[in-house]
Amino acid sequence: MLPWKRVLRPLAALLLTAAVTVVPATVAPAATTAQAESAPSKGAPSRGWNNYSCKPSAAHPRPVVLVHGTFANSVDNWLALAPYLVNRDYCVYSLDYGQLPGVPLFHALGPIDKSAEQLRSFVDKVLTATGAAETDLVGHSQGGLMPRHYLKFLGGAAKVNALVGIAPNNHGTTLGGLANLLPYFPGAGDLLSTATPALADQVPGSAFLTKLNAGGDTVPGVRYTVIATKYDEVVTPYRSQYLDGPNVRNVLIQDLCPADLSEHAAIGLFDRIAFHEVANALDPAHATPTTCLSGIG
Ligand SMILES: *[C@@H]1O[C@H](CO)[C@@H](O)[C@H](O)[C@H]1NC(C)=O
Repeated sequence: MLPWKRVLRPLAALLLTAAVTVVPATVAPAATTAQAESAPSKGAPSRGWNNYSCKPSAAHPRPVVLVHGTFANSVDNWLALAPYLVNRDYCVYSLDYGQLPGVPLFHALGPIDKSAEQLRSFVDKVLTATGAAETDLVGHSQGGLMPRHYLKFLGGAAKVNALVGIAPNNHGTTLGGLANLLPYFPGAGDLLSTATPALADQVPGSAFLTKLNAGGDTVPGVRYTVIATKYDEVVTPYRSQYLDGPNVRNVLIQDLCPADLSEHAAIGLFDRIAFHEVANALDPAHATPTTCLSGIG
């Protein structure tokens, strides 16, 4: 039915396998957890992200913090989007969070409320380094969901201007849905069958989701954008990704480009049409229409 999926999956697996095998070698000297947080700047220096000397420009005064998804990490989730935003004159940072003891490279697995505390510390670090008053957050999958806990319960709304969620599971994902991520993460299969706190937190009806969504999806003072694809096979139905609130823009990528066949992973990993829409969300005053041609620019 969707032959592209068969092409994209191995492609994504290849991309991630490359990241998984190359990056550890380059970051091996950074053995401690604290150092591991800055690993991408060592692993991908020429790409220019996680540069704590970066000074935000007048045009883009807010540093962008990228928040990876389940099983992913601060490097492999952002090999395309981080350089895309750096090339557009943003200071860009990405954190690792939700690490489990003894599990390298596959992150976003620990309790999501604890992960939100890691995000709080990371945002503070970025604000201190850049001298900016606020950040913008861009998250993929769980990376679009987890920041909402930070915004709502950990003071994040005062430090964040906008949250852009790419295929975020704002109202949960079944374990069957999460299992559809596994082809992208060779070797992560065991984590699905063992007790993994973040997976339990993401199942609809969990205590985490019930508390997060009680009394409304959003908090005042933050602009929210959701970018979804109708071919999402992980967070279904895709409309469950949408947020309800006064300061929300829910976007279906196929409404902008009907030929966009990205599914859950591809839309965050290398869909330049979605990236164009991310750039619009970060700088709405200079937004230009996103079309199928946006993938080429
Ligand atoms: C980091 O940013 C500074 C200041 O803009 C720049 O001079 C330097 O070349 C950047 N380093 C990397 C590795 O991109």
